[in-house]
Amino acid sequence: MRKYSRIIGTGGYLPEKVMTNHDISEKVDTTDAWIYERTGIRTRRIAADHETSSSMAEIAAREALDAANLDADDIDLIITATSTPDRIFPSTACLLQQRLGIRNCAAFDVQAACSGFIYGLSIADQFIRAGNANYVLVVGSEINSRLLDWSDRTTCILFGDGAGAVLLKVSKEPGILSTHIHSDGKYQDLLYVPNPYGQRAREEAPYLVMSGNDVFKVAVNTLGRIVDETLAANGMEKTDIDWLVPHQANTRIIAATARKLQMSMDHVIVTIENQGNTSSASVPLALNEAVRDGRILPGQVVLMEAFGGGFVWGSALVQY
Ligand code: UT7
Repeated sequence: MRKYSRIIGTGGYLPEKVMTNHDISEKVDTTDAWIYERTGIRTRRIAADHETSSSMAEIAAREALDAANLDADDIDLIITATSTPDRIFPSTACLLQQRLGIRNCAAFDVQAACSGFIYGLSIADQFIRAGNANYVLVVGSEINSRLLDWSDRTTCILFGDGAGAVLLKVSKEPGILSTHIHSDGKYQDLLYVPNPYGQRAREEAPYLVMSGNDVFKVAVNTLGRIVDETLAANGMEKTDIDWLVPHQANTRIIAATARKLQMSMDHVIVTIENQGNTSSASVPLALNEAVRDGRILPGQVVLMEAFGGGFVWGSALVQY
């Protein structure tokens, strides 16, 4: 019997504190008009001091468990995608496991920057199709605000905090149709965060560094290619896709991918305006929003994609 992974529940969490473009314009030389025009962002959420990636992941995960009507004890594997782990180790997935009050299941983190959730989904799908897990929790959770240099107007305007989660279950019916993940380390210096414990410890402050314009150009081209690769792998046409759930880095990048799919923006889930770029949390947060508000319906075909520091990129095609 062929096995598939089906999404049986989604959840999300956004911290309470809202930071507007106007708030940022009081810290650095920028304007609401510039930020909105160039990025599509108006506000983003900022985690409170007591919050961590694991605390936000717990809230999103519990919401997904409720939606799936599943007991946490049934989970076989927890994969957490994050670039902002509570601790270097243990993994945020282990801390989440403890928060969910479960023991013995496998738990690990995936570090693939903004593509972490797509990578996590791909790994989860391999476990399920190979018969090694029946229920997998995949979470993207990020406190990007703590990685930012709040005096750098080219980066601090872009990011927000949040967490999104999905629960996958083994099924005879699709489910995830295919996942595609790639990386190219030659671009490592265009978007990175130095590790204070790593090789650059004494040379650079531990804040996010990005050559925005270079990243933008590669992102648009690469996402165009992954759309073609995903459609070809499934023998599908552009018109077979009901919804695009993109990583939310910039509305202009999202619109370019929609154009590539000849898809109207009415069929693209866009959350960036009030969330900014939440890195690995952006795709599951957007999916959760569109499932809960009834836009994405059972049986529809959903294309998720992401691109981030590495560079790393990927897609997942799902029959919902
Ligand atoms: O999720 C991971 C992947 N990340 C991305 O995909 C991000 C990709 N990059 C981007 O989204 C865009 O490149 C940005 C939004 C970061 C920047 O937009 P841009 O249209 O590429 O602007 P730019 O970097 O070419 O800068 C244009 C001008 C510059 O001034 P000059 O040199 O033309 O005088 C910047 O100094 O805009 C200036 N600028 C700003 N002005 C006002 C840069 N940041 C700001 C700002 N406010 N916040």
